[in-house]
Amino acid sequence: MVEKPFLKTRKNETSFLKCVMNMADLFLGKIPEQREADTMGIIDVQKAIKDSIQTEKDAMDFYKYGAERMMEDKARQTFEILAREEYQHAESFYRIYPGDDIPSFQEFMNAPPNTESDWWKGLQNLLMQDFDERKALELAIEQEDALEKSLREMAAKIDNPEISKVYLANATSTHNHLELVEDDYKAMFGMSS
Ligand SMILES: [Fe+2]
Repeated sequence: MVEKPFLKTRKNETSFLKCVMNMADLFLGKIPEQREADTMGIIDVQKAIKDSIQTEKDAMDFYKYGAERMMEDKARQTFEILAREEYQHAESFYRIYPGDDIPSFQEFMNAPPNTESDWWKGLQNLLMQDFDERKALELAIEQEDALEKSLREMAAKIDNPEISKVYLANATSTHNHLELVEDDYKAMFGMSS
């Protein structure tokens, strides 16, 4: 079962920018008492969100390029769905990103894959040893599981409730990804990984 995206796709650039600017205000002093309460500090939270955008893109690239290698229809479709959802996850983090160093989300997402990411390195390893669907699904399960944990940890660390909520929503969606891939794995190989 595929969950619905938890945040509606933005209607237009203006409302999107407004939303980003509101979040920036939140960071940059409109609610100072809340800012001070942030366990991580503003700069750390900004960096964490930027890293999260990157991680979601890394996951998207893994599924996008992995899908091209999948021979089995169902697994390929799952990877294609997940690539699209990772794009939405990245967008949800971009919406709350207060930095101004990523002027275009589209451009950021269209950039070549980050060759330093665990997702990408894992995929390259698989490609070097004759792409194996079973291993690709196992890798996806492993990565989604680790990602869910780190998103929940981050949600617990960030005191700003709006930002924490985005992390929790992504963690839930990431858990659904894990289950989706596990279902494919069971359907194809008849057992749990
Ligand atoms: Fe994700």
